Amino acid sequence: MQKKNIELNFISAHFSEIEKKDQELIVNAKKAFESAYAPYSGFMVGASILLENGEIINGSNQENVAYPSGLCAERVAMFYVGARFPDVKINTIAVSVYSKDFEINDVISPCGACRQVMAEYEEKQQKPIRVILHSPNEEVLIANRVQDLLPFMFKSPHLKRH
Ligand code: THU
Repeated sequence: MQKKNIELNFISAHFSEIEKKDQELIVNAKKAFESAYAPYSGFMVGASILLENGEIINGSNQENVAYPSGLCAERVAMFYVGARFPDVKINTIAVSVYSKDFEINDVISPCGACRQVMAEYEEKQQKPIRVILHSPNEEVLIANRVQDLLPFMFKSPHLKRH
């Protein structure tokens, strides 16, 4: 086996420096966090998914007094897309966060479970999904594929029978 470097690529930018269509998706994600149900954490997350057919699907985190029953914004949006548009490819997901209780000084990266879910949809559709992360101080981080956010993920071929 030949020794090689594996590179991960991210773009770090200010909101004002990114493409208009990405800015618009972030604005949607910001609208989405307004519908977060987060009485326990006070941490509001919005996710906005742009599909290849132009449709935009929003999700927000939904908490529950039985804590593990709640779900992150990314998975709320992703699973809705999976259920409602199973054959439409996902182009981009933008995530934005807000909290009046916490100081958030940088972009928040989706939790491991959300990355795993996003990564499997990416694998399923055989086309990269762009991920745009946005912080309240207008910092933006863009990954051109989910795989870069979850290298060496557990993949469905790992469960392939002989
Ligand atoms: N949360 C998300 O919705 N997405 C993330 O990427 C990180 C965390 C939610 C889960 C919970 O409702 C709250 O934020 C605090 O963890």
